[in-house]
Amino acid sequence: MNENNQKNLFPKNFFWGASTASHQVEGGNVNQWSVWELANAKEFSQLAHTRLSWLSNWDEVKKYAESPENYISGRGVDHFNRYEEDFEIINNLNLNAFRFGIEWSRLEPREGIWDTDAINHYKKYIDELRKQNIEPFLNIWHWTFPTWFAEKGGFKKRSNLKYFDRFVEKIAEEFCEDLTYIITLNEPNVYASFSYAVGEWPPEESSWRSTSFVYLNLVRAHKRAFKILKAYKPTLQIGVAAQLANIQAKKPHSIIDEVSTKWMRYFWNWWFLYRIKNQQDFIGFNYYFTDYYTGFAKRQNPGVPVSDLGWYMEPEGIYPLLIRIWYKFKKPIYITENGVADSQDQYRRWWLEETMVAMERAISEGVDLRGYFHWSLLDNFEWKYGWWPKFGLVEVDRENNMKRTIRPSAKWFARKIKEL
Ligand code: BGC
Repeated sequence: MNENNQKNLFPKNFFWGASTASHQVEGGNVNQWSVWELANAKEFSQLAHTRLSWLSNWDEVKKYAESPENYISGRGVDHFNRYEEDFEIINNLNLNAFRFGIEWSRLEPREGIWDTDAINHYKKYIDELRKQNIEPFLNIWHWTFPTWFAEKGGFKKRSNLKYFDRFVEKIAEEFCEDLTYIITLNEPNVYASFSYAVGEWPPEESSWRSTSFVYLNLVRAHKRAFKILKAYKPTLQIGVAAQLANIQAKKPHSIIDEVSTKWMRYFWNWWFLYRIKNQQDFIGFNYYFTDYYTGFAKRQNPGVPVSDLGWYMEPEGIYPLLIRIWYKFKKPIYITENGVADSQDQYRRWWLEETMVAMERAISEGVDLRGYFHWSLLDNFEWKYGWWPKFGLVEVDRENNMKRTIRPSAKWFARKIKEL
């Protein structure tokens, strides 16, 4: 028993939550990403074999990955219309917090023209969360934007930041009164890399020059948003959702492996967070990966266990990461995403259990961890992979009227949280 006479170390007011992103669940979005999906779905289905047949579960994945519909977000999981029901599920899972997005392309479908129905929708949405006693964590930007912003060059141009500022101002004006927690940007490192370096996501550029412009502009976008939001309501708690990996040396005694590990940690994990260290009230981060580096920044992970996406799984790797974050920043920490693609629900419970042990261990060493958001509440549209990867605590049957079914691992999680 600890000093609070509890059976565990999680603070009483700890946020147990789930996370979503507007484009991945809402349905009916028209933004730069949906346009790109429609233009490329056929090609992606034809390339599926080349891209994915190395997966050990390819036989199962194949029938979805080789169909063009897989690559279209379309009706999503109809969360836009079914949010009340989804919030009830959150309650049934004993969760008390929810991370969600407000879709820029709905609020400002044409430049400078605000859609009042969309604004009212999100007001009702936040009200409903409050009514159901779920703490809203609003995520302002999760990779999608209106097509007019894309046509102007998106985040590549510094002069475009004024449009993002205006969107943030609108959010402040319309929604902030009812909010305490705001996440400005989701994973700027992943977006800059996949859209501008690797060139896999819209606008499919592969240029280091563009990547660095975008990355720098996202630093600026965050800082400006922080200022705008704080001026509006100083008590807001603001951060980002950074993608941080537990990066380790493959051979801990090899100097080259150590150097490349340090470099990767700095470049991938810390660079952005250092830039905004005076403009964040908490550190928010998404954890999926433990990566081992060898030689000149070459990733070499163990072959098992892997998720449905072929990603190496080491859930307990969140512990060393939490320790590092804490000693670097000494600020409250929220795990804003964490989860696993697991259609058979064979790993999720193990993943959750290992993660809870790791979190508790970090808390026991003084880490100020205040919340955990599982990715994701619902099965959803997994960007370029489409619909087949299943991250939900709740399964959604898109062929059968979007029926929601709570997975066994989620039931276990709900019981576990209640016992705390
Ligand atoms: C993103 C989510 C995504 C998840 C699983 C995170 O990087 O923020 O949008 O679905 O990873 O790939």
